[in-house]
Amino acid sequence: MILKNELQKRTDYFNDYWQKYLEIDVPENLYKAARHLPLAGGKRLRPFLVSISCESVSGDGLKSIPFGAALEIMHNFTLVHDDIMDKSKLRRNLPAVHIKYGEPTAILAGDFLFAKSFEAMHDLDVDLKTFKELEMGLIDCIIDICRGQQLDIEFENKKEISEEQYLDMIEKKTGVLFRLAARGGTIIGKGSEREINALTNYGMYLGLAFQIWDDYLDMSSDEETLGKDIGNDIRNGKKTLIAVHSIQNAGGENKKILDNIFGNLKASESDVRKVYSTFDQIGSIEYAKNTAINYNKKAKQKISILKESQAKQLLIDLVDYSIQREK
Ligand code: IPE
Ligand code: IPE
Ligand code: MG
Ligand code: MG
Ligand code: MG
Repeated sequence: MILKNELQKRTDYFNDYWQKYLEIDVPENLYKAARHLPLAGGKRLRPFLVSISCESVSGDGLKSIPFGAALEIMHNFTLVHDDIMDKSKLRRNLPAVHIKYGEPTAILAGDFLFAKSFEAMHDLDVDLKTFKELEMGLIDCIIDICRGQQLDIEFENKKEISEEQYLDMIEKKTGVLFRLAARGGTIIGKGSEREINALTNYGMYLGLAFQIWDDYLDMSSDEETLGKDIGNDIRNGKKTLIAVHSIQNAGGENKKILDNIFGNLKASESDVRKVYSTFDQIGSIEYAKNTAINYNKKAKQKISILKESQAKQLLIDLVDYSIQREK
């Protein structure tokens, strides 16, 4: 309950703050396309993580808001392009940007948000050395996201992907942004070296658990609850941990079902459900959930060195939420 209230309170404040980066201009369609996802909602977990990380080391959370804005804008950029790559049609309960505005405009809207993220960085009130460290962090992060997304796409056409390869891929496409959110917030809050390291590791484990759960929701939720297409990972043949585990362990009838449906772009809703129950029967859903629980525990262990505070409790609640959430 505390998490829900605090997230809502900060999200309202944050939404007022970052409007200034999204003001409309001409050509109108470019700006409308760029504003489409930011204004459609979203959980705002990355700016939230930035601010509670900052506060967990007794920093002023307000000072960290431009960094949170930079990361949320960058996150929105990745979503615009990700939906093109993943052939997804629905995002935040609305048509994806490329569905509403067409692919060329969606590509440009993504590029536009990419630049706006750096504009937000420039509103940070920190010394030059800290600014450079945070900016370099953002640059490295984007490069890793590109690498992770490329691996994600390449894995679609590979049959056997190992668990290590999967973990490396999600570390890059998702983990690094959570890591930077936690690390950056702690740096802005002037945390000690030990605290910065603890939050850096916490952020990565949180990101891994978060993506494993995202993969689970993609096949188990419904469109209205999730606000995204359901079953696309199965149709695209995405090598999620659940799929990797199933491919390694399927035999007989189960193997036939996977061979026929997994990776078939034309798979129907009932086909998707069939693959989901096959994954379940093999024990892959439970396996992935247990893996996420393990990362959740590791994340909590990492921040055990922090002194007790509301912000620390929120960090703990956030990891629990990441593997219980329905959207
Ligand atoms: C979606 O992130 C992309 C992943 C890394 C799985 P979120 O689930 O945080 O998306 P929004 O911002 O709430 O829409
Ligand atoms: C998202 O992974 C990672 C990035 C956007 C960088 P997904 O492709 O699983 O995210 P969703 O499910 O579309 O939000
Ligand atoms: Mg993707
Ligand atoms: Mg996607
Ligand atoms: Mg997903």
